[in-house]
Amino acid sequence: MYKFLVRPLFFLMSPEFAHYFAMGLLHFVHFFPPTRWLLKKIQKPNNPSEPIHLFGLTFKNRVGLAAGFDKDARWLNSMNDLGFGCIEIGTLTPKGQTGNPKPRLFRLKNEQALINRMGFNNKGVHSAIERLKNRPKDLIIGGNIGKNTDTPLEHAIEDYLYCFKQLHPYVDYITVNVSCPNVGSLKELSSIHFLKQLLPVVIEKNNSIDSPKPILLKISPELSNIELDDVISLSTELGIHGIIATNTRTDRACLTTPADTLSKIGAGGISGQPIYQKTKETVAYIHQKTKGALPIIAVGGVFCQKDARELLIAGASLIQIYTGFIYKGPSLVKDLAIQFDL
Ligand code: FNR
Repeated sequence: MYKFLVRPLFFLMSPEFAHYFAMGLLHFVHFFPPTRWLLKKIQKPNNPSEPIHLFGLTFKNRVGLAAGFDKDARWLNSMNDLGFGCIEIGTLTPKGQTGNPKPRLFRLKNEQALINRMGFNNKGVHSAIERLKNRPKDLIIGGNIGKNTDTPLEHAIEDYLYCFKQLHPYVDYITVNVSCPNVGSLKELSSIHFLKQLLPVVIEKNNSIDSPKPILLKISPELSNIELDDVISLSTELGIHGIIATNTRTDRACLTTPADTLSKIGAGGISGQPIYQKTKETVAYIHQKTKGALPIIAVGGVFCQKDARELLIAGASLIQIYTGFIYKGPSLVKDLAIQFDL
């Protein structure tokens, strides 16, 4: 029904409008007990996952909603009804910001991909916290943090620390996002030089708090093996709890869409099927280098059980989805919330 009826309707709308429209509909379904009951029944997998224990947290299944979808923690309850085991909110910044001018989100339908240059549009960390006060308790919620676009690099750490301190009591884990291609300083933020300054401060702050939370690092798919080695050694040395691999990709070599169409779209990060292979390679690389000692959450191009299973075999512990969810709809959550036979 999603593929033949719902998706064609959504795809008549602009991608960003469709996002809010779809979430409005879902909220409506969630609001009325009978439709909510029906939705939860439809979404129940035939072979539900056993709980997954990872970095001291218990996830009800392996499928999470990737950062960027519910940036401001608006739809936690509805997404919980769909069966996600985890939702990563954000990227949140200290102050709210509008992001880049629209249009800034584009579909590449033939390639089951998206290009976005949203630019961290979000209402700011405090607005999310107000909603998190009524968060669902049976769902793991991660808080993905970043810096405001107008914060100069020399003050970036202050932005991360501010978001960390504010969000810490309300989420189950924190993701330090240094890998967004749409905020203008990707190269600097994802450099080992910057990470060596940022991560120890975050870890130290975390350890000084009564109940420290797992700290994850979200990386770019565009790190060379040497850069990845540096990130792995630093993360292991500092006791980072896990790596989220990966964010969107800017290198367009993975696309088959004609160059003139792409140049009309302009800058942005690619997500969806074309980045799947790179996700798998990155997960396998980290897993082999760390001999499985550093948990990995795999994200990028997951569209079916086979994709997820391959990533789990390559070394991932959990899976996140974004673009696959747009193209496949809620049934993808149900398909991935199963007990995988590995
Ligand atoms: C994203 N992604 C993202 N990641 C992040 O860490 N912070 C963010 O704010 C966003 N925002 C965002 C917006 C949009 C429109 C998209 C499509 C993606 C990246 C996302 O979490 C994920 O890493 C990639 O999209 C790859 O996964 P998929 O989409 O191929 O499943």
